[in-house]
This record gives sequence, structure tokens and C-alpha cells, in this order.
Amino acid sequence: MKNSLYLPVKTKILKTKKLTELEKYFQLDLSNFKKFDHKPGQFVQVAIPGVGEAPISIASDKNKKNTLDLVVRNVGSLTNLMHKLEDGEYLGLRGPFGNGFPMEEMKNSNLLIVAGGIGLVPLRSVIQFYLNNKKNYRSLTIFYGAKTDKELLFTDEYETWKTKGINLNITIDRESPTWKGNVGLITTLFNKIDFDYLGSKILICGPPVMYKFVLLELIKKAVPAKNIYLSLERQMKCGVGKCAHCAIGSYHVCIDGPVFTYEFLKDKVEAL
Ligand SMILES: Cc1cc2nc3c(=O)[nH]c(=O)nc-3n(C[C@H](O)[C@H](O)[C@H](O)COP(=O)(O)OP(=O)(O)OC[C@H]3O[C@@H](n4cnc5c(N)ncnc54)[C@H](O)[C@@H]3O)c2cc1C
Ligand code: FES
Repeated sequence: MKNSLYLPVKTKILKTKKLTELEKYFQLDLSNFKKFDHKPGQFVQVAIPGVGEAPISIASDKNKKNTLDLVVRNVGSLTNLMHKLEDGEYLGLRGPFGNGFPMEEMKNSNLLIVAGGIGLVPLRSVIQFYLNNKKNYRSLTIFYGAKTDKELLFTDEYETWKTKGINLNITIDRESPTWKGNVGLITTLFNKIDFDYLGSKILICGPPVMYKFVLLELIKKAVPAKNIYLSLERQMKCGVGKCAHCAIGSYHVCIDGPVFTYEFLKDKVEAL
């Protein structure tokens, strides 16, 4: 029997790790799923009985078939309870949902990832996809911004990413005695880093205030709107296009997104 779209699958937490003050990493065991095949940029609905569900991005490599990585920021009722769960405990999971980034369409291009804060979570699965399929892409550059160096995610992976040829550029909003790198908003990187913006595909995920200013930079550089992909965050309920909770006009972020091109979004004021 196939897993039901609506019924959370009881899923064991294999490993947890506190990454920052607000973010916790979870490695989940997928053995209760008949099949789980995800694309970079897709999400799952995480359920805690009696509390509810929330959409959470998949942070792991699509080639890892038995486990799934999530990173959860403690912001509300469900995520607060998730932060109290430890190795060996269970939660409910439905998915994978959403369209993800069109990695096939982006073949033979330079890729630029622009991530703000927790926006790096879904893009980590793009980074891993790139590393497994490097011959299909020209290059990968990352612009990643966080408020402080204490909030940077996946810090123990940066050296590997760089060794494997990824051009990683990080900036933090405020100076800190423990930080020697770039300081300033993520948009400051656009003038500091030499990059072929016109011949590239740009993948953006972060808070709305960030992507508004990032879009202005890309428009200034005349990047075609069809080459800009944004992953949107919306309040969701069903995750499968039935409840209209996540609607943008006649489209649904849960099934038509969360990834949209700027070409699609630019005349939809309510989306941006
Ligand atoms: C596609 C997608 C992917 C996502 N990926 C991730 C991810 O990888 N990691 C992650 O941590 N999050 C992710 N999110 C965000 C996450 O789903 C939300 O933060 C979710 O609401 C958390 O659920 P909660 O029950 O803990 O929070 P909630 O209790 O729903 O609260 C969430 C926020 O809303 C505010 N809020 C709650 N109720 C009200 C109210 N009545 N009025 C005003 N404000 C209110 C809270 O203060 C809080 O800031 C993603 C969202 C989407 C759509
Ligand atoms: S969350 Fe129900 S339609 Fe998108």
C-alpha cells in the first residue's frame, strides 16, 4: 500500500544536534515509508499529535534514501515542542511535497545561491545535489547572510564545500569579535564579488525583506526574470492543494511552489 497523502507516517528521530540558539538539526529514519524520493527544494509536513503540523524544508542529499535531515527554528507551538524531542523519540511526517528547484532545467549553467538565515536549509539539498552532479553544471557560488556569526548554519561543512570548488561568500549584519569575514547586508556582496550574473541561474531563499532587496540588485544587473528562482514561505495546512491556505490567486504555494521564477511572480503583488 502507498503512504497516504493525509496520514502522517510515524517517524523515528535518529539524531539531534543544537546548531544555534534557535535552530536544531534532526536526522530522521525513513524506514516506515514505502518510498521517499525527494527533489532539492521540496518540504515535508511535520506533525505532533494534538498540536498540529508545519511545513519544514528537506535539508539533505536526495541520494540518501534511508534518512532525512531537517533544521527547525523554534518560533511557535509545534517547533517549540520539536525542540524538546530527543534521539529515539518519534514525530509524524507527510511528504515530500512541493515542486523543488528545477535542477534539470538549470543544467550547463553557473548557479548562484543567495540565502538569508534559515533560507540556507532547503538550499543545502541543492548544494549536495550539485556536488553529486558537478559535471552537469558550470559552477556554484553561494552568497549567504546571517544576522551574527552565532547564527550561521552548517558551519562544519564550509571547508568541504570550498575544497570541492564551491565559491562560498558569507556576510554577517553586525561586527563581532569572533568574526573576521565580510560585514554588511547580503546585498553588499553583489558589488564585492565578481560574478557572471547575466549568464547564470539564481536561487534565492530567505526572509521576504531580504529577497526584495536581492531582487532589486538583480534587476539593476539586468538578470532575466526567468533565470531567478525564489522559494516562498507561506502558512500551510494540507500541503497538497486542497485547503487554499497557501493560495496566491489561483496558484498554491504547496503544489505549484514553493519555488517560483521571478518571471511568474513579478506581477503578483500579493506574493512578494
Ligand atoms: C515551504 C516551507 C518550508 C519551510 N521550511 C522550514 C524549515 O526548514 N525550518 C523551519 O524552522 N521553518 C520552516 N518553515 C516555516 C515553518 O513552517 C513555520 O515557522 C511554522 O509556522 C512553524 O510552526 P509553529 O507551530 O512552531 O509556529 P506557529 O505557532 O505557527 O508560529 C509561527 C510564527 O507565527 C507567529 N504566530 C503564530 N500565531 C500567530 C497569530 N495568531 N498571529 C500572529 N502571529 C502568529 C508566531 O509568533 C511565530 O512567529 C517553512 C515554511 C514553508 C512554507
Ligand atoms: S496548504 Fe492547503 S492548499 Fe496549500
